[in-house]
Amino acid sequence: MHANDAHPAADTATFQTLIQSLPAGFEWGSATSAAQIEGAAREDGKGESIWDRFCAQPGRIKDASNIDVACDHYRRYPEDVKLMQWLGLEAYRFSFSWPRVRPQGRGAWNEAGFAFYDRLIDTLLEAGIRPNATLYHWDLPQALDESIGGLLSREVVPLFAEYAAEIARRFGDRLSTIATLNEPWCSATLGYETAQFAPGHTNRAEAYQVSHHLLMMHGAAIQAMRAVGPKAQLGIVLNHTPSFPADPLNEEDRRAARIDDGTNVRWYMDPVFRGQYPADIVEHLGADAPVIEAGDLALIQQPLDFLGVNFYTRSVLNGRQQFVTPPGELGFTDMGWEIYPQALTQHLLRISREYTPPPIYITENGMANADSVVDGRVPDAQRIAYLRGHLEALAQAVALGADVRGYFYWSLLDNFEWNSGYEKRFGLFHVDYATQQRLAKDSAHWYRDMIGAFKAARP
Ligand code: FCB
Repeated sequence: MHANDAHPAADTATFQTLIQSLPAGFEWGSATSAAQIEGAAREDGKGESIWDRFCAQPGRIKDASNIDVACDHYRRYPEDVKLMQWLGLEAYRFSFSWPRVRPQGRGAWNEAGFAFYDRLIDTLLEAGIRPNATLYHWDLPQALDESIGGLLSREVVPLFAEYAAEIARRFGDRLSTIATLNEPWCSATLGYETAQFAPGHTNRAEAYQVSHHLLMMHGAAIQAMRAVGPKAQLGIVLNHTPSFPADPLNEEDRRAARIDDGTNVRWYMDPVFRGQYPADIVEHLGADAPVIEAGDLALIQQPLDFLGVNFYTRSVLNGRQQFVTPPGELGFTDMGWEIYPQALTQHLLRISREYTPPPIYITENGMANADSVVDGRVPDAQRIAYLRGHLEALAQAVALGADVRGYFYWSLLDNFEWNSGYEKRFGLFHVDYATQQRLAKDSAHWYRDMIGAFKAARP
């Protein structure tokens, strides 16, 4: 299967640190999402999603690509599960496509869509890999955008809860975890304020109203799934980009960092874990703050079994709330994101202290790299360094008391990176999109060796 069995440099020092600091049973995984890998965009009755529509609009996607085929995972999932097995993964995080299983977002279910996830989940279980699902990784049924105004309408909340309950009924006893939402900040802010993501609006008030509806969708889905009583643990996945002032001694810079942290971290953590929005951000938003009705916050604050944290980088801000790029000791990824693993340690300790959350999983962490195939190999030393740095930072947080139970590398495969199209490569496996051939990058070998060493030392 793999022409290349050459191992990257042995990394015993890092492996030893991880083995010593992380608990036995720590789960090693990798993550993907439906829209980014499945393809089969119009097959077997799948409905259109807002991302199918967004891709069709000129200028939205950097390489003018779409998600019709993506990684053709819909057909190639058996091969992809074999890649996971080769890596030694214990867990895999994927997302359900809402329009694949309910094409209009309401009304009739699509049995052929459910059958795909049925096959995928059974194949994972047969391979000894625990399936971890996300219900909403940004691919809203386009029909709902048209019929009710999509995430702008409160009507989306009970529809999402129906979908969540149906998934819990059909798959809840075979899934290890079910996360309601992936990164609601991205759906709201990038989708409705900056127009980088579908549906591409530019209105801050809409973005915050949408964020409120997303959080209500989360709460209503948790309630609906609890009523079904699945074996799966239930939670949410949030993206955290810790904010730093450019000059820690400058009051304005500190304020800018606090606002950025408030809109990114606290805006989601506070309602989910404390049942309230941060007052300083409500004030900062002024007329753009969302309309909240009685009972909404109680709905949002549901007891959770786990918190998923997606961590990639940090933000550094000056007093004009501009993002200022620091020199970056470890450099930048191909996305232009600073590599700053120590923020992961600090951040995990901070949220553990401030929120006493349920057990945490790092549900995404990884880097885009300008990878290329050289003599049948993908020499991505930068990604190995990124992985090593972040896993050591994670181990340090655990050693200092953070309750982190697992790590999912983003991503298993190179895939459709939203508005960047296929130009940004995050995978452990390189994908040749012309042939759909997968090739283990050096980082995949490193991750595999590390997982093997960990399992041998902490069976
Ligand atoms: C996260 C998304 C994921 C992927 C990575 C790079 O924000 O959840 O789908 O695009 O970034």
